[in-house]
Amino acid sequence: MTGFFRQQGTLACDGVPLSALASAEGTPLYVYSAATIVERYRAIDAAFASYPHSLHYALKANSTMAIARLLRSLGAGADANSGGEIDVALRAGFLPSQIVFTGVGKTWLELALAIDLGVATINAESEGEIERIDRLATARQTRARIALRVNPDIDAKSHPHISTGLKTNKFGMPMAAAKAICRRFSSAAGVEIVGLHVHVGSQITDLQPLRAAAEAVVRLARELRDEGLVIDHLDLGGGLGVSYDGSPVPGVQEYADALLTAVRESGLHLVLEPGRHIVAPAGVLLSRVIDVKEQPGGKLFVILDAGMTELIRPMMYGAYHAVEPVAPTAAAEITCDVVGPLCETSDTIGKDRRFPRPSVGDLFAIRDTGAYSAVMASNYNRRLMPAEVLVEKGGWSVIRRRQTIDDLLALET
Ligand code: LLP
Repeated sequence: MTGFFRQQGTLACDGVPLSALASAEGTPLYVYSAATIVERYRAIDAAFASYPHSLHYALKANSTMAIARLLRSLGAGADANSGGEIDVALRAGFLPSQIVFTGVGKTWLELALAIDLGVATINAESEGEIERIDRLATARQTRARIALRVNPDIDAKSHPHISTGLKTNKFGMPMAAAKAICRRFSSAAGVEIVGLHVHVGSQITDLQPLRAAAEAVVRLARELRDEGLVIDHLDLGGGLGVSYDGSPVPGVQEYADALLTAVRESGLHLVLEPGRHIVAPAGVLLSRVIDVKEQPGGKLFVILDAGMTELIRPMMYGAYHAVEPVAPTAAAEITCDVVGPLCETSDTIGKDRRFPRPSVGDLFAIRDTGAYSAVMASNYNRRLMPAEVLVEKGGWSVIRRRQTIDDLLALET
């Protein structure tokens, strides 16, 4: 077993006590288990082993360079969502041919960058975007490989903020329009339509919408083939959820079975863009108690040195993250609201959690913060970005140093 487990009562990451990490590197601190990332990447890869596939790690989940390099070393490709993520991918050692470029609003500059590099595929979101790609590529006397991102009008049954597959969501082009668009661009000088792309949302814990989306693009691919429009791959995006609260969620094999049942007979190469599933459980946000305050009614406020600036998911999606004392004491349990230090009432990490009565200086671990945590951090209230450490082979390295006020102000007059 890899990851975060108790050793003589104290929470540790792959054998390294979190208390040692906090003493050496300070708090708040993002801590990642390299072994967990390796294990979870390999589990997805193995689940799809019976079918030709490529995994393009969704950098948006966590693109700290060392994490990106680790995924590359395992054989992953990259899914980049901006020019910045393309740059990170290149600097992490991904070849342009290993990068798919997604994103609902790609600028001329970003498209030109992707075309000049010759990325594997640009997942095009609209007819207008394809026109722009065609113009840019034609001017460069090249042909860009694109996949059409279709919107299948499927409810992913995830949080509305991270559901992307309904026709009222801004993503992709209507299924009904895709065929005409394919026909229109089938002999365009600057684009070659090589695939279909669909991504109906994130943190999906019901496989039915994922299967339905796969079936929809398989159907479309067949209809295109019947018209003589041949593509080579289907990109089914990411989206597989994790269990933040311990409730049962589908495993990678069930996920693979659901998708492969839909895709297998098409024979088309399968591309996936997993993010959260690989990295979320591989990280904790380590934080120290700054203050403890009684509330009227007997509960406590436990005020941590981490809040919405380091983890915005609870306030943004009402997301649940488990919070655990690193070294539990023998104190009697009490109900606590775990909050951050920012001047917002919504800066609340967890309500009504039961812990042995915490004291100032205690360490807490906020679980499952390997994805969409550090990448979504901000400097609100002039707070400085935490350091990040990667635990590997019984030791750890600082993979991103703590930001200083000078770093922050270096950009200002
Ligand atoms: N591919 C595309 C086109 C995407 O838009 C996304 C995520 C992924 C792949 C990766 O999905 P994953 O396997 O990680 O579910 N900030 C939110 C999540 C936003 C996800 C955006 N797109 C959160 O904290 O829950």
